Amino acid sequence: MSERPSSPSANGASSNGDGRGAPQIRVEKLVKRFGDTVVLDGVDLRVEKSEVAVVIGGSGAGKTTLLRILIGLDRATSGKVEVAGVDLAKLKERELNQARRRFGMVFQYSALLDSMNVLDNVAFPLREHTRLGQREIAERVRDKLQVLGLEGTERRFPSQLSGGMRKRVALARALMLDPEVLMYDEPTSGLDPITSRMVDDLIMETRDRFGVTSVVISHDMAGALQIADRIFVLAKGQVAASGSPQELADGNTEIVRTFIQSSGIETERLLREHAERTRARKQPTT
Ligand SMILES: Nc1ncnc2c1ncn2[C@@H]1O[C@H](COP(=O)(O)OP(=O)(O)O)[C@@H](O)[C@H]1O
Ligand SMILES: [Mg+2]
Repeated sequence: MSERPSSPSANGASSNGDGRGAPQIRVEKLVKRFGDTVVLDGVDLRVEKSEVAVVIGGSGAGKTTLLRILIGLDRATSGKVEVAGVDLAKLKERELNQARRRFGMVFQYSALLDSMNVLDNVAFPLREHTRLGQREIAERVRDKLQVLGLEGTERRFPSQLSGGMRKRVALARALMLDPEVLMYDEPTSGLDPITSRMVDDLIMETRDRFGVTSVVISHDMAGALQIADRIFVLAKGQVAASGSPQELADGNTEIVRTFIQSSGIETERLLREHAERTRARKQPTT
């Protein structure tokens, strides 16, 4: 693995990976078959540390399948899958379980346990994977809830929370083991536009605050253009287009146009907002 010197002018689609260390996620020629059905047919992607990568594609494109392989819940048929320096294909089942603790996952529809209150939901990974005492666990949960603007909700049940709060509880749970990589499967699907926007903000804040590398699965180009450092468009089992939001818009390929049109979004405005946010992030205020 070569550590390349930083280049001041990352240019065009070839900038993928330039100027930084080894990528946090490296997928090469990934193939996944279920029986005779080829779902992923040679997927390549690289995601750098602390980036938000959005994988976008239509229903049935293989997005969830890809995510399950990235998090070690499923295995590739062939190809290379390296996450946080770990070659997942080489791991035995037990080692895979170990490695999985370093990855967090926010499932579609939050997947909170309805019979448990917020404290118990968020504490779940700590009780499963650590030997911490109850008091320490409660303290860590309280800290995380506070960071996510959920202080005082420990005793509430999922049914007593709004959709946006449930997402934040799910995120708190995914963050409990301080993962290096966080995967989100369609985190905004089923949410109203305002709550979706809040979840998008939360994904970016999580990147900025905890420095985690994020992979967000989505079918929504509007959200992708706003939150992504890098976008991968998945179609027919392959990456049909990839790059920064601006590169993707500039590339003007048919598949990207189709996604942009079907989202009915104002690309120019979203790209402008994205550029402004990126600038603000790189120039900390004094
Ligand atoms: N465990 C499985 N067994 C057989 N086929 C599967 C399995 N999981 C997913 N598939 C198939 O793979 C394709 C992609 O599914 P999925 O990854 O869930 O798509 P997406 O998340 O993009 O909507 C679908 O045709 C689905 O039927
Ligand atoms: Mg899916």
